[in-house]
This record gives sequence, C-alpha cells and structure tokens, in this order.
Amino acid sequence: MSTPLLAAHNLNRQFGGLMAVNDVSLRVHQGEILGLLGPNGAGKTTLFNLISGVTPVSTGRIEWRGVPITGMASHAVAGLGIARTFQNLRLFPTLSCLDNVMVGLHRHARQKRLAALFQTRPFHQKQAKLHQEALALLELFGIADAAHRPANSLSYGDRRRLEMARALANRPELLLLDEPAAGMNPHEKDQLCELIRQIQAQFQLTVLIIEHHVPLMMQLCDRLVVLNFGKTIAEGPPEQIAKDPAVIEAYLGGAG
Ligand SMILES: Nc1ncnc2c1ncn2[C@@H]1O[C@H](COP(=O)(O)OP(=O)(O)OP(=O)(O)O)[C@@H](O)[C@H]1O
Ligand SMILES: [Mg+2]
Repeated sequence: MSTPLLAAHNLNRQFGGLMAVNDVSLRVHQGEILGLLGPNGAGKTTLFNLISGVTPVSTGRIEWRGVPITGMASHAVAGLGIARTFQNLRLFPTLSCLDNVMVGLHRHARQKRLAALFQTRPFHQKQAKLHQEALALLELFGIADAAHRPANSLSYGDRRRLEMARALANRPELLLLDEPAAGMNPHEKDQLCELIRQIQAQFQLTVLIIEHHVPLMMQLCDRLVVLNFGKTIAEGPPEQIAKDPAVIEAYLGGAG
C-alpha cells in the first residue's frame, strides 16, 4: 500500500488528568476527504492541534509522507503544506479581507527582506501578483465584494469563508477544516459542501474536516473517523458509520 500523506500513530494528549486524545491512530491518504466526527469534547480539535503543531503531543508519532514531524513548530508544519482553519476564528479583525489573505500568500512567497525594505521594482511586481491571487481566492469564496472591508465587518458565515480562503493562500496539500459550516444555514451548508469539492479538485487537495452536521459529512466525505472521549470508536465509509452501533450509542446514549 502507498505511504499515506499523513499518519498519526498512537497519539496521546493529556490535560491534567484528562486524556483529551487517547491512543488515536489515523491515516490520511492523498486526495481523500476524511471526516472527523464525534460529540462535543471528543478530542477532535485537540487532534487538529496536535497535527498542526499548535499543541505538543504527550506521546505518539506523526509522519508526513512517511517522515517523522512530531514536535515540529506550527509554522514549520504549515511550511510542509499543511494548512488549517480554527473553530474559534483567528482572523486579523481590523485588517481588510484582502490583507488577511495576503498574509497567507506572503508566507508562501517568502519575499526577500532587502527587496521589501527598498521596495524594488521586482518587489512591486510581486506585490501586484499577490494582490491578484488574493482577489481570485476571495472571488472563489464569494466575498470579493468585501475585499477592502475589515474582516470583523463580515457575517459569521463569511468570516468562515475568509478563513478558508486564507488557509488556501498557503497553497497547502492538506487542508484541515475545523467546523467550517458552523453558524451557516442549510442552504449555505449545501453551497459550502459544493465549494469544498470544487477546491479539492481545483487545488488537488487532501482534506481532513471536522463538522457536526452529519448529513453534510455523509455527503462530502470518502471516509469517516469517529472519536468519543478521546478514543477512535469507528472508522470506515459513511454508509458503514451510519449503522455502526458504537456510533449510534455515542450520539444517542446520553439522550435516551
Ligand atoms: N488547552 C486545554 N486545556 C485543558 N483542557 C483542554 C484543552 N483543550 C481541550 N481541552 C479538553 O479536552 C477535551 C477535548 O476538547 P476538544 O476541544 O478537542 O473537543 P472537540 O471534540 O473539538 O469538541 P467540540 O465538538 O465541542 O469542538 C475537552 O474535555 C476539553 O475541555
Ligand atoms: Mg472542536
């Protein structure tokens, strides 16, 4: 079998006495859309934080294309081609939407410091190109009209779209989306589903997505992994997960 793009082996993360992520192993294959489901507090965001280097692992191993990256700082992980959005949005609220996306592009473009300092002609040409790219990303997400407005003037749904545009500006190979449809109405959720498919094809992305809206996940994902109390309780194609007794128990157990 081919080496997965990303592999997590026996990951653990403890917060005091709490095992937020408990012996989780995961393989993400190139080109797939893998969904991460689980009740509140199951450890989904913590798993994203471990993968993206935001939170150090307690024990376990993470590999990118078979190479160990455990313990790597978040900016270095981003440099590998792993981008993410945050459940609690992390935009620059008073910067324009365009500038929020340009921040991501700059990181990718790695402009030479001296060129930037002296504002040379190549620097200006590069700036113009980045500007165009950022606008194209905003257009893709349907928020180009707001390009020059501050991020905090957008609706909640549009802010989520802006976060995705910014994540894409890093030109990632693997995109981690933490509840991108939160706060969207059913029509917007459908549109988002379509958009994720579109960007996946257009940018040849691999996607790891956390989302509570089960119908969206069933429709969108090639495979689902379900966490509960930090542990993996099920893994497989959506139709198999939908009838998995452990999953049904995890979601309905407390309600009956
Ligand atoms: N920095 C932290 N310090 C202490 N406890 C934490 C920290 N981050 C997460 N936790 C705890 O770890 C557990 C898993 O949290 P996590 O945010 O990963 O869950 P989640 O599956 O993303 O939930 P939700 O669906 O509500 O977003 C929770 O009990 C949470 O309170
Ligand atoms: Mg979460």
